[in-house]
Amino acid sequence: MSRPTNVNEQEGGKVAHWISESGVMEVYVLVGATPKEVLTKYARLTGFPQMPPAFATGHHQSRWNYNSQDDVKAINDELIKWNTPTDVIWLDIEHTDGKRYFTWDSYHFSNPSDMVSYVASFGRKIVTIVDPHIKNDANYYINSDIDARDLWVRTRDGEVYTGWCWPGESRYPDFSNPTMRQFWAEQFRFDKYQHSSSNLFIWNDMNEPSVFNGPEVTMPKSCRHVDGWEHRDLHNLYGYFVHWATFDGLLLRSNHAIRPFVLSRSFFAGSQRFGAIWTGDNTADWKHLKISVPMLLSMSIAGLPFVGADIGGFFNNPTPELMARWYELATFYPFFRNHAHQDTKRRELWEFDDVFAQRMRNAIVQRYQLFPYVYTLFHLSATTGEPIMRPLWFDLDRDSSASTLTGDDAFMFGPALLVQGIYEPDVTDVVVSLPGNKTHVWYEWREREAKEQHLYSGGEQVRLFGYAQGIPVLQLGGTIVATALRIRRSTELMKRDPLSLVVALDKYGLSKGLVYIDDGTSFDFQNGAYLKAEIQVQNCQLFNTVIHNKYTVPGSGHFIEKFTILGSLQPLERIEILSQGKQHNLNKDFFHQHQFSLIIKTMPLHLSLYDNFQVHLISKNKGSCLK
Ligand code: GLC
Repeated sequence: MSRPTNVNEQEGGKVAHWISESGVMEVYVLVGATPKEVLTKYARLTGFPQMPPAFATGHHQSRWNYNSQDDVKAINDELIKWNTPTDVIWLDIEHTDGKRYFTWDSYHFSNPSDMVSYVASFGRKIVTIVDPHIKNDANYYINSDIDARDLWVRTRDGEVYTGWCWPGESRYPDFSNPTMRQFWAEQFRFDKYQHSSSNLFIWNDMNEPSVFNGPEVTMPKSCRHVDGWEHRDLHNLYGYFVHWATFDGLLLRSNHAIRPFVLSRSFFAGSQRFGAIWTGDNTADWKHLKISVPMLLSMSIAGLPFVGADIGGFFNNPTPELMARWYELATFYPFFRNHAHQDTKRRELWEFDDVFAQRMRNAIVQRYQLFPYVYTLFHLSATTGEPIMRPLWFDLDRDSSASTLTGDDAFMFGPALLVQGIYEPDVTDVVVSLPGNKTHVWYEWREREAKEQHLYSGGEQVRLFGYAQGIPVLQLGGTIVATALRIRRSTELMKRDPLSLVVALDKYGLSKGLVYIDDGTSFDFQNGAYLKAEIQVQNCQLFNTVIHNKYTVPGSGHFIEKFTILGSLQPLERIEILSQGKQHNLNKDFFHQHQFSLIIKTMPLHLSLYDNFQVHLISKNKGSCLK
């Protein structure tokens, strides 16, 4: 029998059906002139995304499991040998004493504090897993403390509910109860969670909740929570409550001084306030690489900006080519983590032949070079609710072909960069459908300083050649991307590094972009301790406008060492820079031009983002600098 259609549907409209399993639904309809406006309204309703600590936006090296403290140190040392930035090394369930979370396997991790300090001495962090199922063991303090407080989920008959998970027979705290969440939060206090420190952060997994022997691999819907609520009423909230309680724990342990980082697998509307989400157990398969994009885009436009998928695919072993392609794409996942199942081969970059190892490393390095842009995207997201990874139609839909573009295997990384993944082996040439119309200009990112350059228009389908390594990334004219080009061990060590700005002009010679900087760790930004500068180009002049200036790093003026201006420019005679009341004339030793780019080296001038400087491009014919 076919489903009856309604009038709206017959006229080409859309129809959605909701069925409530428990009680009456409340439906909120959010309307707005742009997708961004709708997401801002959504954030007002459910909470703005967390501004994560800076390290969380870097590269995460994980696996189930790094087996011992020596293994962790060896991973750290190998990353150094390969001169590869990485912010975090992760410890999965095997680091515990028999999957009793908050404890350590004392044989393999006999001195975890020393391991954490060792890794931290290179500017890196450790993340440990803390799952919400609790081993039913009378000698395990978390178990007996919850027992004493009577905070378990119960069956409909009033018994404490037991199910199976990693530790064997387990019980499930009732995270919907605020008293339980408070108890949980306290477990993260430095004096409670042995060997934890301010360099150790948390991963919550299996918080759907996962019950291996339960119906639909979770707990029965008839289970009882606080005040007699049935599990069916709040199943989708369980993971959200776990994430929340852990987030609160990390706030509590630092007396609200340090931003938490908590990764969660399960989520609900509002989870964006507590940190990152990943897509769970994917497979080392080209199809899974490809579907990671629509999955992450769906989460992004549903208000969760800090999302990623396991690089390489969790199950099975990726071919070296798949692994390299995955890294090349994941550079543009907001959450950037290499993670794998226990039964897989090791997949740190040095496990691969050099050509693939170098490709993986290049992808990681590219992510760190983009760090100033990425961090600014996180700031925008935290203040407006806008996503980091966005569908092509997000910014450019109105009058363009973007809404009719087929497929969702390309996406925008912030407002400036279009990313086209490569999702099959042996592919080097790719057709990219460029959003926008004839008034939009696109520049190929890898050519930004090359001799040979191309320029494309919106609305075009273009074939891009020679991507045996790396994937196509294009910058939209009218945007600015801040980069930091020195290779460091982690984001923490990039604080004093100068920036290079890639300024892409639109068809009319205009461009605009933001740079946001804060200390990356504390909440001082909420009291105004940040630097925000807007860079604009108009009439052949680039202006820096300091919007807010209350953050300084000793020894750093947030200098700009280089501008790469993309656009079709006349041959220039000289460049005048006005900074701190002084005028400097840059002669040809300090800039050079290619077909569609101008590279200006400003290092000697100590041009600072704290200063409202101006850069004036003067063409040989004294007219406009634009062609
Ligand atoms: C789950 C997680 C996976 C983790 C494993 C062991 O399958 O999704 O990431 O490695 O549990 O903790």
